[in-house]
Amino acid sequence: MRSIEDEHNLNEKKVLLRLDLNVPLRNGKITDTTRIDKILPTINFLLKLGAKIIILSHIGRPKGKVEKALSLKPICENLKIKLNQDIKFISKNLKEVKSDDLFNDHDQKIVILENLRFYEEEEKNDNIFAKHLAGLADIYINDAFSCSHRAHASISKITKFIPSYAGLQLNLEIEALTKITSEIKRPVTCIIGGSKVSSKINIIKNLISKFDNIVIVGGMANNILKYKGYEIGKSIQENDCDQVIEEIFSLSEKESCKIVYPEDVTVGKNLNGSPEIKELKNVSKDELILDIGPKTIKTINKLIEESSTILWNGPAGYFENSKFAKGSIEIAKKIVEKSETNTIYSVVGGGDTVALLNIIGVTNHFNFVSTAGGAFLEYLEGKKLPGIKALN
Ligand code: 3PG
Repeated sequence: MRSIEDEHNLNEKKVLLRLDLNVPLRNGKITDTTRIDKILPTINFLLKLGAKIIILSHIGRPKGKVEKALSLKPICENLKIKLNQDIKFISKNLKEVKSDDLFNDHDQKIVILENLRFYEEEEKNDNIFAKHLAGLADIYINDAFSCSHRAHASISKITKFIPSYAGLQLNLEIEALTKITSEIKRPVTCIIGGSKVSSKINIIKNLISKFDNIVIVGGMANNILKYKGYEIGKSIQENDCDQVIEEIFSLSEKESCKIVYPEDVTVGKNLNGSPEIKELKNVSKDELILDIGPKTIKTINKLIEESSTILWNGPAGYFENSKFAKGSIEIAKKIVEKSETNTIYSVVGGGDTVALLNIIGVTNHFNFVSTAGGAFLEYLEGKKLPGIKALN
């Protein structure tokens, strides 16, 4: 992979910089800026070399439609403050943006284009869309490791049309994950939660042979509970998962990998409702499972105690409401407690999980913090990520 660190002739060059600015938003406000903070060194490096930067990113999953609530505008405002730089926000239809729309003032050094996923061509890895984007600049940099598991136009196809480089943060993440996976100490426990069930449930199968324990919490656990015959009420779930869950359990037996899922849960009538701890058999049709219960926390903490390595992606519950954050917080606290005695190597990944650790102020207690969620898991699977393959 060509790295941008080795390229010093960037003066006045137009650089398309693909970032992952998919930060958590609440009512239009950014609730965690980790993904923004991590790419500041790349932007400063490019500015120092005199490059003109065109930032590309997505936020959320608008599925090819313009959704005002998923505009990159608030992120642009945040970046302006962090960099102490003017940044031009271009809301024009991406497919109609021309070079002349970008830098009409000589002092303008950074522009940011609107959410790539407002255009269905992005997720379709469309040739024409990718070529059009590539035509706006001299070189392209992928500094979005956390999106590199997506074969999308701004990650994959674009590299066909323009000299392409790996960014500083992408290199850092790959180096760290390569080291971690090659030197991993057993027993290894992988905790997988969060709400992106469809992206993650198929990955678990491929992780079974690599780890000693897999703890399934968050949205995916609801599917498992349903498969086991429990009522899950109005909880988030994915359709048609029974086959893959069956495979997960039969494979785990063959590979002697222990699969842990909730033994009890915390429910609410809605996302803002009051928490109630329930045995699995007592969940009713009008409730949502929003966190794990105390018995489950105890089991997970015992596993952490017995592990030498912990890989964690995805919160255990709806931590955005503090009443349902207990499961995630207790997991974090246990890992921190163990790292204080230097008896565990801990890696955490994903926008929401890192946001949670920031809220409780323990991020620095983890050995490695990756910005990536899905990409982190696919990397652990041993898959060649499309974005990395394209750079190669
Ligand atoms: C992430 O948050 O993991 C990346 O931004 C990718 O988002 P996606 O899962 O919607 O593709």
